[in-house]
Amino acid sequence: MTSTREYQKEMKSVLIRNGHIIDPANNVDEVGDVLIIDGKIAKVGGNLAEDVGNVIDATDLTVTPGLIDMHVHLREPGFEHKETIATGTAAAAAGGFTSVVCMANTSPVTDSPEKIKHIYDIANRNSEQQASSTANVFPVGSITQNLAGEELTDVRGMLSAGAVGISDDGVTVMNSALMHEALKLSAELGFPVMVHCEEHNLNAGAVMNLGETSRKLNLVGSPNAAEDIIVARDIMLAELTGGHVHILHVSTAGAVDLVRWGKQREINVTAEACPHHWILTDTEVEKQGTNAKMHPPLRTQKDIDAVLEGLRDGTIDAIATDHAPHTPTEKALGMEDAPNGIIGLETCVPLVLTYVVDEGHLTLKDAIAKLTCIPAEIVGIDRGTLSIGAVADVTLIDTQKTAKVDVEKSCSKSRNTPFAGWQLKGWPVMTIREGNRG
Ligand code: DOR
Repeated sequence: MTSTREYQKEMKSVLIRNGHIIDPANNVDEVGDVLIIDGKIAKVGGNLAEDVGNVIDATDLTVTPGLIDMHVHLREPGFEHKETIATGTAAAAAGGFTSVVCMANTSPVTDSPEKIKHIYDIANRNSEQQASSTANVFPVGSITQNLAGEELTDVRGMLSAGAVGISDDGVTVMNSALMHEALKLSAELGFPVMVHCEEHNLNAGAVMNLGETSRKLNLVGSPNAAEDIIVARDIMLAELTGGHVHILHVSTAGAVDLVRWGKQREINVTAEACPHHWILTDTEVEKQGTNAKMHPPLRTQKDIDAVLEGLRDGTIDAIATDHAPHTPTEKALGMEDAPNGIIGLETCVPLVLTYVVDEGHLTLKDAIAKLTCIPAEIVGIDRGTLSIGAVADVTLIDTQKTAKVDVEKSCSKSRNTPFAGWQLKGWPVMTIREGNRG
């Protein structure tokens, strides 16, 4: 009988045959085979006649480095009724992601080296039990203690414990002097300060974008300026310090312009955008209520056009989901009281392929770069490539598959998506993580 250990070793050697290999980091875009030996990429390209036992026929499939979502909320510890690390990483794997970067707004807040280690411990325990259906977890520590915006965390300690960046995502650090300190540390130690940009005084009480729809629905709206002011401030602080600022979930035309301006001045700024911010406008709130409520909010067509232009010209480096699970009961509280956010891990790939690649905004290769090597570089992790010797994280995508979003089949614990029932084209069909087939 094969022991579990032998079985795992056997599974770690796989030949992926005859796929369309896209590895933007190495400028590979060709049909061929990928050989994985002992969980590492051994050969890429050509017709490899290796006898490894496990052969995956990838004919008509696209083979990419394992996708990376650099912005998710896994909710554990503290909010396990919304999501756990196990269910969130299962949703990641189902959505084609082999790695996720998780935010610090847990309870308690991930604001110390011990809490970073705790996240790694849970993730490692899960993946020992179920290697194939999970994703690598890379935690972010908070910028300020308890997300209170008052005192910096032990950033050095958290980085030593494996934090890949710092962020108070969900809230903005309003104190510019603290942000200055955080970015000085970033310049010294080389890590991203990932910023949620909303001026809290300006968007106090806001539950959606400020505009025609908010007026019609008599809801408090947040102006674009609330986002733009903080984006401008943090880019200027990055210039002042030389630190690396990463702008989370860009939603306004002004923010895109400001990031572009920062890059032109060679300031160390990177940015990400989420599918909902380039697909849906604030009118969606009228149709979908709280499933269209998130921070920053859905904006206007003008903003969507600017975000798409930012993706096209490279101003926006990466694509992320801001996967933000909340329960149906919480989302049923109505626009004023329901929490912000939507799930995104399982809809990201088909939304990108349908609305960005098929619409001609990005080539498939450029879209994959924004989901692999670029986020890997931003957070400094050794993933996102099919380089020889790299950890064998691989995603297989059927770019021709058309299917409806079936939210009832989601691996997430939550169901809060505005994309339920949408017919989309281009779906992930398999992930391989460290050589383990999902
Ligand atoms: O809509 C959001 N939800 N935006 C955030 O930045 C945080 C997130 C959450 O944690 O639910």
